[in-house]
Amino acid sequence: MTDSWYAGRRVVVAGGGGSGMGAAVAQLVRGAGAEVTVLDLREPDDPDGLAFERVDLGDPDAIDAAADTLGDRVDALFNCQGIAGSRPGTTQGDVMRVNFLGVRHLTERVVPLIPAGGAVASIASVGGLGWERRRETIDELLATPDFAAGLAWVEAHAEDLLAQVFPRTYSFSKQALIAWTMRRAVSAIEHGVRMNCSSPGSTRTAMSPDFPADGVDYISRPIGRESTPQEQAGPVVFLNSGAASYINGANLVVDGGNAAARTVGLL
Ligand SMILES: NC(=O)c1ccc[n+]([C@@H]2O[C@H](COP(=O)([O-])OP(=O)(O)OC[C@H]3O[C@@H](n4cnc5c(N)ncnc54)[C@H](O)[C@@H]3O)[C@@H](O)[C@H]2O)c1
Repeated sequence: MTDSWYAGRRVVVAGGGGSGMGAAVAQLVRGAGAEVTVLDLREPDDPDGLAFERVDLGDPDAIDAAADTLGDRVDALFNCQGIAGSRPGTTQGDVMRVNFLGVRHLTERVVPLIPAGGAVASIASVGGLGWERRRETIDELLATPDFAAGLAWVEAHAEDLLAQVFPRTYSFSKQALIAWTMRRAVSAIEHGVRMNCSSPGSTRTAMSPDFPADGVDYISRPIGRESTPQEQAGPVVFLNSGAASYINGANLVVDGGNAAARTVGLL
């Protein structure tokens, strides 16, 4: 049911280069018969049957140029791009550009191309859970009308709220993504377009070395291992398919039970 929805659909996978979750999404939907365009700085390791555009998804002008090439219809958009921000020299602005401001900018460009019945799914993180406690602050950022205003807001908070690039800014970027997905889902559904996100736990990808080992161990409990990129791709491919036609504004936690264990006090 999930698979058959993709046959002949036009799908964009932002962050679908390399070999991580987005690459696994691209492979799944390609296998299901979709026409797939990957937007990323890195080419997919397995590029067969995929259209690829090299795009800096943290740069609004580059996003605009890429969006202009997508034609007049996109049935499903996946936002899988992201950086942890723990590499030396990475700034708060770098993290927020890619993980939130660029996702918002690209999605706003693509949503008008999505017909009723289509959908957007974005990959957030368990690092974004607990966003409700910061809702007032997050709402200030969400109220910024565009990329430039959002970046100005980030820069104004680089010395206080976002003083630490990792994990604080990473976590904030994912909190903003979850909260924005929920808000935007409410208006998008008026046009028949659904919008959801997922929150993965620790996953073995090129990004894994950017997370501290003790944190990875903790987030991998109780299941006792990291997930594979494929185990994260399946849930978002489901969210964007017709099999999820009544799911809107959801944040699907895909963490082997870590958040559940914390919520009920077992971890
Ligand atoms: N790996 C984990 O443990 C984990 C856990 C929770 C959430 N996540 C999130 O999952 C998503 C996928 O990450 P992943 O683990 O597959 O890592 P990954 O590094 O394999 O994938 C991220 C992709 O984003 C692309 N990207 C980064 N900056 C870009 C830019 N400026 N322009 C264009 N493309 C850019 C990379 O080239 C890469 O292909 C990310 O949003 C990440 O934050 C990862």
